[in-house]
Amino acid sequence: MKANRKIIITIDGWSSCGKSTLAKQLAKELDYVHIDSGAMYRAITLFFLRNHIDWTRTKQVDSALDQIILSFEYNSKSRQSEIHLNDENVEYVIRDLVVAEKVSDVAALGPVRHFAVEQQRKMGAKKGIVMDGRDIGTTVFPQAELKIFMTADKKVRIERRFRELYEKNPNITIEEVRDNLEMRDFIDSHREISPLRQAEDAIVLDNTNLTEKQQFELTLQWARESIEGVKH
Ligand code: DC
Repeated sequence: MKANRKIIITIDGWSSCGKSTLAKQLAKELDYVHIDSGAMYRAITLFFLRNHIDWTRTKQVDSALDQIILSFEYNSKSRQSEIHLNDENVEYVIRDLVVAEKVSDVAALGPVRHFAVEQQRKMGAKKGIVMDGRDIGTTVFPQAELKIFMTADKKVRIERRFRELYEKNPNITIEEVRDNLEMRDFIDSHREISPLRQAEDAIVLDNTNLTEKQQFELTLQWARESIEGVKH
């Protein structure tokens, strides 16, 4: 009976630890919904940039948020759920460095967090969800049955992100990637509202020396135990 129980799994951690990759794999294996909450902040940032919103002005932010509809839709070709901004698939364009350079500033704004968190909670209302981000285990779902906090050596994270971005843009340099990652880590962990931090009841997963397969098997075990009611 308990094996069919649906739970909430949260995966928080530093930039470029592979949170979304792991969240996607776990969701697929457990037949759960996967939500990449970072994609929501990236899509909002994309809207602000395209529409020249001055996000230091609360009125402009509020009226911009009123014009944003975010949804996740399953793409049978890529076999993953992809984010849509006002009906446009923006899953790939939000990964650009132009968005990455501004997303931490936008994600630090109170109205933006309120807007995103409200939707994230609705998405998890029926449980059976794996959500990754920065504040999912601390703010969005403090009651989650399984909380994972991911970390990895900074050098390894920079190399991983560089390889990923280089495929799309061979002009990118490792210095650009390093600067962006360090800046985001700093802003994300020092902002006033819901900063990145490890929930007290989270399990730390340092994947510096783990293969994707090892990390998947380990966390799947944790997930199965949590579904059975085991406290970690
Ligand atoms: O996971 P990501 O790198 O795609 O996230 C992009 C940015 O969004 C990240 O720099 C911080 C912000 N973010 C956040 O503040 N809270 C979340 N739950 C997820 C992401």
